[in-house]
Amino acid sequence: MWLSFLFLAIAATGAVLANNNGVGLKPPMGWNTWCSLGRCGRDYCDAKELMAIADAMATNGMKEAGYEYINMDDCWGDHRDDKGNIVPDKDRFPDGLVPVVKYVNSKGFKFGLYTDAGLYTCSSGGRKYKIPGSYGHYEQDANTYASWGIEYVKMDWCNTKINGTELDPHKQYQEMSDALNKTGKPIFFNSCEWGVDNPWEWMHQYANSWRTGPDHHDDWKTTSKIIEVNADLGDYAGTGKGWNDPDFLMTGGEGCDPPVDSVHCPGMTDTEYRTEFTLWCLMSAPLLVVTDVRNMTSIMKEVLLNKDLIEINQDTTGPGGKRIGFDKTCGENACQIWAKNITNGEKAIALYNADSVSHNITLDFSLFGWKVVSMQNLWKNENLNATNSYTVEVESHGVQAYRAASVG
Ligand SMILES: *[C@@H]1O[C@H](CO)[C@@H](O)[C@H](O)[C@H]1NC(C)=O
Ligand SMILES: *[C@@H]1O[C@H](CO)[C@@H](O)[C@H](O)[C@H]1NC(C)=O
Ligand SMILES: *[C@@H]1O[C@H](CO)[C@@H](O)[C@H](O)[C@H]1NC(C)=O
Ligand SMILES: *[C@@H]1O[C@H](CO)[C@@H](O)[C@H](O)[C@H]1NC(C)=O
Ligand SMILES: *[C@@H]1O[C@H](CO)[C@@H](O)[C@H](O)[C@H]1NC(C)=O
Ligand SMILES: *[C@@H]1O[C@H](CO)[C@@H](O)[C@H](O)[C@H]1NC(C)=O
Repeated sequence: MWLSFLFLAIAATGAVLANNNGVGLKPPMGWNTWCSLGRCGRDYCDAKELMAIADAMATNGMKEAGYEYINMDDCWGDHRDDKGNIVPDKDRFPDGLVPVVKYVNSKGFKFGLYTDAGLYTCSSGGRKYKIPGSYGHYEQDANTYASWGIEYVKMDWCNTKINGTELDPHKQYQEMSDALNKTGKPIFFNSCEWGVDNPWEWMHQYANSWRTGPDHHDDWKTTSKIIEVNADLGDYAGTGKGWNDPDFLMTGGEGCDPPVDSVHCPGMTDTEYRTEFTLWCLMSAPLLVVTDVRNMTSIMKEVLLNKDLIEINQDTTGPGGKRIGFDKTCGENACQIWAKNITNGEKAIALYNADSVSHNITLDFSLFGWKVVSMQNLWKNENLNATNSYTVEVESHGVQAYRAASVG
């Protein structure tokens, strides 16, 4: 008797346990300043650049493809005024943020910003002085953001040791979540504590998405590591829960040092960028681009505007996709099979070769209880049918990706 009561109580509260702010029902798509105007992590941004990005995204196919947010990283804050209100950098934003927010909105995009749970932000936007975090000002800052028309907030996790004691991420993210809720405005909330305390198990109560691991950089070493970190987390993602955030998309590369305006310096191969995007889409990850989209290269257009893969990313029929097996004929971890359940009983499938040489990867349809399968290649204009199994050659660090349906 008490057991079934307990069960009912959990079932009843289950719904309200998610951060119920009405946004983030699909993985967010957008752009972030983290790599803007050159090298990633330089964390520069200004009003002129953000408006130019909005102009570009409104016309380069990104808006049409579903990219919705234009977000600032650690590049805009400056100091608190005598009332404790956060003030934007006046060299970068001479008229404050509001005209920029309005301009970005007028182009059909939502505007987001960054803060930190602790005393100071992580990089202080490359400046010689420290930029205040939100610690001690969560409600005040949430109200300020709401009054500026901000619709996405990322909260980072630096300088969180206060008087010798490390803050508890559970408490801090809950407090900011409550503060955002109290503004009465639906504001997408992204947590960024790099996977401390397995946020995929609890952060859905407070945030709409949560970083699952370390920063993503424009090199294969980090990309492959982040893919591995996220391989088993798919079930934690979904509508009514929230999204595992493997961090920004590096597609096309930036990485120039010193920074050069509108020049792309790719740190990965075109094959590796296709793999990045495919697996981010399958795992229902946020699609947040950090490369300069004012002048997209051909690989950026091919990858970032792949409508078939975006459709799979935005499909919320089931939870996020995950690694479901291996083709062990090429070694322990080399040939990986990833899948995501999508609409109409179909599946998105990626055959991923993590190895440094090419391999033939075999997908055995009995894995799905299927026999005759119709497959649409998501990178090539190619449809095929296969029975019992399908074998394809996949180049080193590459993927072959399909939308598949059982047809007999
Ligand atoms: C605030 O939280 C309540 C309870 O979960 C929810 O019903 C409401 O929609 C939230 N409001 C906003 C603006 O997030
Ligand atoms: C640190 O402790 C001192 C002394 O108790 C206090 O005045 C100060 O406000 C504390 N700092 C923070 C950030 O809480
Ligand atoms: C765009 O990129 C191409 C190739 O790198 C370059 O030749 C061109 O000058 C760039 N255009 C702008 C507007 O930056
Ligand atoms: C897809 O759905 C089936 C049936 O519910 C389930 O057994 C399988 O684990 C799911 N696969 C993924 C990748 O979520
Ligand atoms: C894959 O199989 C084909 C057909 O058997 C063969 O020609 C090719 O060399 C194989 N590739 C690799 C990387 O083993
Ligand atoms: C695959 O089989 C289905 C169902 O029999 C059929 O409608 C479709 O045309 C076939 N596709 C190809 C590429 O042969």
